[in-house]
Amino acid sequence: MADLREGDFCSCNPLELFEQVTAQGEKVRSLKAEKAPKDEIEAAVKLLLSLKLSYKTATGQEYKAGSPPTDFAPVSNGPGDAGDEDLVDPWTVQTSNAKGVDYDKLIVRFGSSKIDNDLINRIERVTGHKPHHFLRRGIFFSHRDMNQILDAYENKKPFYLYTGRGPSSEAIHVGHLIPFIFTKWLQDVFNVPLVIQLTDDEKYLWKDLTVEKAYQYTIENVKDLIALGFDVNKTFIFSDLDYLGTSPEFYKNILRVQKHVTFNQVKGIFGFTDSDCIGKISFPAIQAAPSFCTSFPQIFNDKKDIQCLIPCAIDQDPYFRMTRDVAPRIGYPKPALMHSVFFPALQGAQTKMSASDPNSSIFLTDTPKQIKTKINKHAFSGGKDTVEEHRKYGGNCDVDVSYMYLTFFLEDDEKLDQIKQAYTSGALLTGELKKLLIETLQPVIAAHQQRRKQLTSEMVKEFMTPRKLAFDY
Ligand code: TYM
Repeated sequence: MADLREGDFCSCNPLELFEQVTAQGEKVRSLKAEKAPKDEIEAAVKLLLSLKLSYKTATGQEYKAGSPPTDFAPVSNGPGDAGDEDLVDPWTVQTSNAKGVDYDKLIVRFGSSKIDNDLINRIERVTGHKPHHFLRRGIFFSHRDMNQILDAYENKKPFYLYTGRGPSSEAIHVGHLIPFIFTKWLQDVFNVPLVIQLTDDEKYLWKDLTVEKAYQYTIENVKDLIALGFDVNKTFIFSDLDYLGTSPEFYKNILRVQKHVTFNQVKGIFGFTDSDCIGKISFPAIQAAPSFCTSFPQIFNDKKDIQCLIPCAIDQDPYFRMTRDVAPRIGYPKPALMHSVFFPALQGAQTKMSASDPNSSIFLTDTPKQIKTKINKHAFSGGKDTVEEHRKYGGNCDVDVSYMYLTFFLEDDEKLDQIKQAYTSGALLTGELKKLLIETLQPVIAAHQQRRKQLTSEMVKEFMTPRKLAFDY
């Protein structure tokens, strides 16, 4: 169950609310049995009553122990809630705020939990590693059930990592790297297996692509992923177009999910309409299935209860809200999640960097000159109109895209802080800030291209061959 604080639960979906009421009821019973202090019992009862009220509001029914809701209206991806203008779903990220999406509000709306300092400190304690700068800077900001993963890890119980990519084009942009860079760090510090799904089937269904082209993009994108340095002994990368036809266990899990989600539910979660093709309507089950370890018998043997942790940007959360609803009903643990914010488009944080708009993106195939031109020409600036005004009033890092990009790619906290202070005070000009970003990104991308160039098709094949990894189950 998600970590529960009062006020957290109001936007959870009905099944999660049901589980929260059940757990809170048990807590009240055990507090009474232990003869806990009166104020503690009263507080727990108060929380129980508000949970029951939220459940009734969400389902229109009274809570009944042992009778979970079977059909429900899912959480909104927005907009539509009064005063809430951000739209976040797997296809669109849009806000009118130049600072970007209001992520605190999103946590409440999606019913996830904030990655707070307590959790970051716990990750540091448990792994013995300094937290990644994506954690220290709130770039990975939200989670579901991460404490459960850490409890299991401390008790020497295994878990695995799952993430993915929809190969919509040959070139990946730097925004796509964020979850993969973080996933690699998680794999390194926890030493766990990783599966990476390439949803070429999804991209065939959604884009104007042939099946063959989608598969070709898979292979090109896999090279970019391997170039990030994943360990072939611990990582299985698969294309849906390949793996689905060769793995009966994977297909059985897809079917199990398909049987437990109604058309009504996916319409609500993903906004499908009557004119969407049936491939799209059934696709979410294919993205859900790798969350269950039985989809990979070659890795996990006949184990059924190894929990999965999914790092991704928060646009993918609708898939996994659905997966978490289904999991207990088909006898599997719910996947845990860690969500990142979006790497903004060059034009500003009102939308995410997206491959479908080349001017909004810096691609891993860009030359040093292209990177320089794109940043100088398109990166939205928080600077003032004239040098005089800028020196006098300073720039605004909250909306400045070059500064935002540095928070992702400049690892040195002290240097980042100096840049922020200098820009805010007006000592550093916009052109100088852009130059710092260009000098940071050019070598990162050049080094990536160098590593990618050295990859052979044998190496790609090795990563993509279903096989046992370097773990015994
Ligand atoms: P895709 O290819 O759109 O994105 C791949 C991963 O990158 C994240 N992402 C971003 N992160 C930060 N800033 C951005 N501007 C940005 N744009 C995309 C996405 O959240 C994702 O984590 N359907 C999925 C593929 C998939 C998947 C998964 C993703 C299959 N299984 C499991 C995550 C976890 C897709 O099309 O991702």
